[in-house]
Amino acid sequence: MTPRKRILVVMGTRPEAIKLAPLILAANADPERFEVLAVRTSQHREMLDQVVTYFDLPILADLNVMRRDQDLTHVTTAALEGLQHVIAQVRPDVVVVQGDTTTSFVGALAAFYENVPVAHVEAGLRTYDKRAPFPEEVYRRLTSVIADFHFAPTEASRLNLLKENVPADMIWVTGNTAIDALFLTLAKAPSAAAEASAPTLLLTTHRRENHGEPMQRICEAVLILLKGFPELRVVCPVHLSPRVRQVVYPMLGAHPRVSLVEPLDYEDFVLAMNSAHIILSDSGGVQEEAPALGKPVLVLRDSTERPEAVEAGTARLVGTEVAAIVAACRELLTDTEAYRAMAQARNPFGDGHASEQILDVLARSLDGVERREPVDRAKVRAAFQPTEAVAPEAILQAAIAADAKTRMSGGSQGAAPA
Ligand code: UD1
Ligand code: UDP
Repeated sequence: MTPRKRILVVMGTRPEAIKLAPLILAANADPERFEVLAVRTSQHREMLDQVVTYFDLPILADLNVMRRDQDLTHVTTAALEGLQHVIAQVRPDVVVVQGDTTTSFVGALAAFYENVPVAHVEAGLRTYDKRAPFPEEVYRRLTSVIADFHFAPTEASRLNLLKENVPADMIWVTGNTAIDALFLTLAKAPSAAAEASAPTLLLTTHRRENHGEPMQRICEAVLILLKGFPELRVVCPVHLSPRVRQVVYPMLGAHPRVSLVEPLDYEDFVLAMNSAHIILSDSGGVQEEAPALGKPVLVLRDSTERPEAVEAGTARLVGTEVAAIVAACRELLTDTEAYRAMAQARNPFGDGHASEQILDVLARSLDGVERREPVDRAKVRAAFQPTEAVAPEAILQAAIAADAKTRMSGGSQGAAPA
């Protein structure tokens, strides 16, 4: 009998969990072929909790990395220490990372250090501007250098990888697992919400390049639109980053037609997209979901790694200049034809079966190892499980101490699978 493949899935932020949930659930439902284990760095805390709870994801270990207003160095170093420890304990046949966050890149790096193959989900997205998005463009390129399996969502992303000399036979075009998650959720949701009667603009913004003045300009544009369109309502689930909240709350919080709300559960956000008239966003995931829902999305960035949405006609790059945002929204609010041209459900990001395709590739490509020993879950967890009483730093110290002990008593780095 072919040994089942042990897959370790790494996630840290809200979008990674949303896009990896369908893969984790599908692998978990297929115990003949897979043993799937998931580790969360918790680069995000509450926003990741929401997704883990909504999809009821089984989590092996929680590295509890997040600090308020954290910097990139902290996330990188804390996640790297923790992930290397978990990978060494679990000895998976493959480590799966998604996208371009600090957690994704560090997950790939930790696996590489442990000599474990890396599968990169959502590979090949590029702007070719290493500062936009910052630092994600660099993370995704570095991850492509490390990865062994490259799961590209579209043909354009496959071509980007080929240009960088990634071997053609290690790239698979699968569609984006974001669409798997979206379809799963639409099938589960109580009812697809009807479009709100008053024109509603759904706003999300969080990108580092937009912190400070660009975000102020976005808010200024929203205030001008509210003045010009007395019926217009704005809904904005505000990202938990203090850099976002310190701009959005003071500028928009007092307006009677603006609802600033906490980050929504994924299903509620999908319903909010469905009932919105226009979406204004700098999010990556929203650029994938909006075309599938037929909702015009004005992208608050100067470049995008998702040109397919722009080509499909549902997304338009508007940047962060006040006049450009106001003009683009005004056109959609006043010109029915222009609105209709954008509001067409066209989905260039796959058929909702990306996770199955990824799992099929992994099932047939990985060697798998006959294992006598199951993963000692308690041992993996003991070092990391967050408790109310212990500060994150203390948990990290405990993890490092446990890691050092493991190394001294036999060593884990580069060891053969157990
Ligand atoms: C990260 C990713 C970005 C992704 C975004 C999704 C990197 C470099 N950036 O950016 O690619 O688009 O997540 O949202 O990996 N916070 C909380 N609770 C949470 C989440 C965040 O309080 O559940 C606050 C913390 O103060 C944290 C701050 O938000 O310090 C920023 O989080 P961080 O993950 O560092 O960066 P993001 O801007 O969220
Ligand atoms: N999302 C959510 N609740 C919200 C806002 C967004 O569940 O209040 C979902 C959204 O549907 C998408 C993902 O979060 O799937 C996007 O996350 P984010 O914008 O934080 O990150 P990005 O996609 O830009 O990396």
